Amino acid sequence: MGDHGAVTPEPGPEPRPESRPGAVPGSPAPLDVEALRRDTPGTAFGIHLNNAGAALQPAAVLKAVHDHLQAETELGGYEAAAARADEIAGAYRSVEELLGARQGSIAFTENATVAFQQALSSIRLAPGDRILTSRQDYVSNQLMYLSLAERLGVEVERAPDAPEGGIDVGAVREALIRRRPRVVALSHIPTSSGVVQDAGAVGALCREHGVPYILDACQSVGQMPLEPESLGCSFLAATSRKFLRGPRGAGFLWVSRQALKDGLVPLFPDLRSADWVEEDLWQPAPDASRFENWEFSWALVLGTGAAAEVARATGLEAIRDRARSLAHRLREGLGGVRGVQVLDRGRELAAIVTITVEGWRPSDLVRHLRERSIRTSSVDRSSAVIDYDERGIPAALRLSPHAYNTEDEIDEAVEALRHAASFPRESA
Ligand SMILES: Cc1ncc(COP(=O)(O)O)c(C=O)c1O
Repeated sequence: MGDHGAVTPEPGPEPRPESRPGAVPGSPAPLDVEALRRDTPGTAFGIHLNNAGAALQPAAVLKAVHDHLQAETELGGYEAAAARADEIAGAYRSVEELLGARQGSIAFTENATVAFQQALSSIRLAPGDRILTSRQDYVSNQLMYLSLAERLGVEVERAPDAPEGGIDVGAVREALIRRRPRVVALSHIPTSSGVVQDAGAVGALCREHGVPYILDACQSVGQMPLEPESLGCSFLAATSRKFLRGPRGAGFLWVSRQALKDGLVPLFPDLRSADWVEEDLWQPAPDASRFENWEFSWALVLGTGAAAEVARATGLEAIRDRARSLAHRLREGLGGVRGVQVLDRGRELAAIVTITVEGWRPSDLVRHLRERSIRTSSVDRSSAVIDYDERGIPAALRLSPHAYNTEDEIDEAVEALRHAASFPRESA
C-alpha cells in the first residue's frame, strides 16, 4: 500500500486541566432554588417539565451566545473566532472540567447524534463483527446499528434487561466472553424511560475485555456527575440542550486517550480533523479534534461552555438529588391517580418520568397540558419499539423535571393530570 492511507500520530501530552478564571473550585455551594430560578428567565413563563427535550437556558448561556454573535456581527465570523480564541479555549476547558477530563479530550459537534456517529464510524467493522448494545438504546443509534448490519453484514446483539429493569450486566459479561463483540454501545439514560443504566459496570467489563465502549450520555450529562474515564468509556457522546441547559444545535464527544492511541479516526474526516499531507497521505489531528468538522457555530460552543460552568457552579450532585426527588414526587403523586400508569422501572431512576393515562393519547395530553402552561412531551413507539411493544403501548407522556422546578409546580402538574384522567378523551 506504500505511503497511501493515514499515519497515526501519537496523542499529545496529557497536561492536567487548567483552572479557568471564574470557575468554581472544590465543593459546590448548597443548591439555592430561588437563585436558580432568578437566573432562568423561562421559569416566569410556565412550568417547564420538558428538560429531557430541551431545558430552559440560564441567563449566562444566552449572554455567551449573544456576545459571540455580536462580535461576529461587528468583526466578521472568522475574525471574531480569532479575536475570541481565549474564550473559545475556555469553553473547551469548561466542558473538560465538567467531565473531570484532560485537556484535548473534547470534540465539539452539532449534536449528540453526530458525536455518536463520529465515534461509531471510527470502529473498523467487518462482516460478521458484532455490536453489543441494549434493548433501550436511543432510536437513532438503533437505526445506525441496523444500517451497518444491512450494509456491512455486522450483527446487532442486544443484551437482555434484568427482571427489575435496566441492562442485565451478567448477560453483558456473558456476551463479551462468548460473542466477542467488536464494540459495545449503551445509552446511559434512554429517551423513553427513567432508567439509569449501570454504565460503570458495563464499562469495567469492556476495559477488562479490551472492547471499545461508546456511552450515549445525552440525557445524563448535566443531570448527574459524570466521569467518562472512571466509567470505562472509550467515547462519551452528549448534547448541549437537555439537562445541561445549553443551546440547541450543539453537542460534544469525549474521547479517551486510549482511543486516540489506538488510532481510531472517524470514517469521514475533514480538513479540521485531519491534514492532507501528500497526494495520497493524510494525518489525523493528535487530539479529540480529529472527531470535529471544520464549520462550527462558535457562539453555540461558547453557550455550551457557559452551561457547563453553571452546572459545575450549581453542583452536579445537588442537581441530581433535587431533580430525582422532584421526579420521585411526580411518580408518587401520579401513581395514586386512577387511570395513570407509571412506566419507569429499574434499580436507579433519573429525572425522566413516563406515564400513560387511560383514555388519552399522550400527544393530546401534551397539548392539553400546554394550554395550562405545563410543558411536557410525548414519546411514540417509533422511538422505543422494543420497550413499548413489550409493554403493549403505542406512546407515553414524558415529564422531566430539573433542579430549578419547584414542588408546587410538580403538584400542579399532578393535579392537572388527575383532572384530565377523570374525563378520558379517547381520541385514538
Ligand atoms: C438518549 C438519547 N441519545 C441521543 C439523543 C439525540 O440527541 P441529539 O438530538 O442532540 O442528536 C437523544 C435525544 O433525545 C436521546 O434522548
